Amino acid sequence: MSALPSSMPLAAETLARFDREVAKFPVEQKQSAVMACLAIVQQEQGFVSADAERAIADHLGMPPIAVHEVTTFYNMYNQQPLGKFKLNVCTNLPCQLRDGETALQHLCSRLGVEPYGTSADGVVTVQPSECLGACADAPVMLLNDRQMLSYMTNERLDELLATLKAAP
Ligand code: FES
Repeated sequence: MSALPSSMPLAAETLARFDREVAKFPVEQKQSAVMACLAIVQQEQGFVSADAERAIADHLGMPPIAVHEVTTFYNMYNQQPLGKFKLNVCTNLPCQLRDGETALQHLCSRLGVEPYGTSADGVVTVQPSECLGACADAPVMLLNDRQMLSYMTNERLDELLATLKAAP
């Protein structure tokens, strides 16, 4: 069996950003910076590649599989390149009871994609998600892991898609 390929080096600026996060924890617990390092890579590269996971593992003294477990546990980390905008639509039960699935299907239909797909123009990726903690505002979704969108009726979804497609 051949050895795993070694990780691609990250830029010195990226490693310096890692070190600022590492400095927030006791020396013997630098692995606690793993989520912050993953977020930095995603911010810079748009997603977290296997190479980036190995580079983080090297930097933090962790097994690569432990980094991968974090990447795959949280759906805010993208494991492949996505569209310019990512919409995570809550389809958990409370939202299901108030049109969460309808919102997902409407978006997919308008974009011509299946769930987890990216529109042909590369602008929007749509994904189902677990509870976003705003069940009373259903249908709810999260835009680019940052901005919560509430009460997203089909009419409001159409307005949103027009805004995203027109964004510079
Ligand atoms: Fe959708 Fe909680 S179930 S936000």
